[in-house]
Amino acid sequence: MFRDDLLKGKRYLVTGGGTGLGRVMSERLLELGAEVAICGRRRQVLEDAAAEMSEKTGGRVTAHQVDIRVAEAVDEMVGEIWQGGPLDGLLNNAAGNFISRTEDLSPRGFDAIANIVLHGTFYVTSACGRRWIAEGRPGNVLSILTTWVWTGSPFVVPSAMSKSGVKAMTQSLAVEWGPKNIRLNAIAPGPFPTEGAWKRLRPQGSSEVRSDMTHRIPLRRVGKMSELSNLAVFLLSDESGYITGEVVNIDGGQWLVSAGGFADLWALDDAQWHSIRDTIKAANEQ
Ligand code: HXC
Repeated sequence: MFRDDLLKGKRYLVTGGGTGLGRVMSERLLELGAEVAICGRRRQVLEDAAAEMSEKTGGRVTAHQVDIRVAEAVDEMVGEIWQGGPLDGLLNNAAGNFISRTEDLSPRGFDAIANIVLHGTFYVTSACGRRWIAEGRPGNVLSILTTWVWTGSPFVVPSAMSKSGVKAMTQSLAVEWGPKNIRLNAIAPGPFPTEGAWKRLRPQGSSEVRSDMTHRIPLRRVGKMSELSNLAVFLLSDESGYITGEVVNIDGGQWLVSAGGFADLWALDDAQWHSIRDTIKAANEQ
């Protein structure tokens, strides 16, 4: 779908790039010629991922251990990466989440999520943005949200609140930093099953929930990783150069199902629809 050299000469940082969606997107950037720095909390996981991705794609990957909740550590890491050359783009992918009744959450439980998603994402964005501005270079930030940013979501309130904050950052900085040629966009994925997310969000068992949930998705399936990673590539590449401040949903239409409240009518068969039509017509004629 893209030229093999689309991202040749480009350098990107992917937070949480050692596992899950972050790893899939990192690998796609590498396949298209980019150089990628991945960061995360677990050194061994990162180093293994970097070695495997480099072997598979022939691309250059560096691994950086950091906890994005610690602003000074983030700035130090970004400074280190910059010594090897400036970054062209940042992919804010690192996140944390678990399901819990909100009344059961301790303040520390709330902070565990908000410190990663809201604060950590800001720290990395700010560390890159300040450098782009100081050097007069263009920049590109892509953040991974969820479709909860439009609707909120019960039982994952710290994530819904924090991801909505990252959406506000995306839109605010798209305007503030637009004249400096720094773009910010976001992707709001629906269900793209990864081991890490499913363990925390579908702990009751992944396979039966997965088939159960597809009936609430208009396109009747979960997302394919390639669909997500190709969208990320497009938004991180210069080919999307006139797009900024945008949040692109990629969810098979799932979040729209709650709109209007008629989604359950899917269950009706032809006979039931004919009967409904007759009933409404009769009501109109009265
Ligand atoms: C209630 C919990 C809890 C749980 C932790 N806490 N897990 N409370 N239910 N399941 C509380 C603890 O009791 C503690 O509060 C506080 O949170 C901090 O706990 P720690 O274990 O010390 O937290 P920490 O080591 O910082 O771990 C962070 C984490 C962890 C978020 C809890 O899961 C993590 O590191 N996850 C990163 C990867 C991840 O989550 N990936 C999935 C992302 S999926 P007290 O008061 O007891 O001390 C995603 C979107 C998916 O983001 C979208 C799908 C559609």
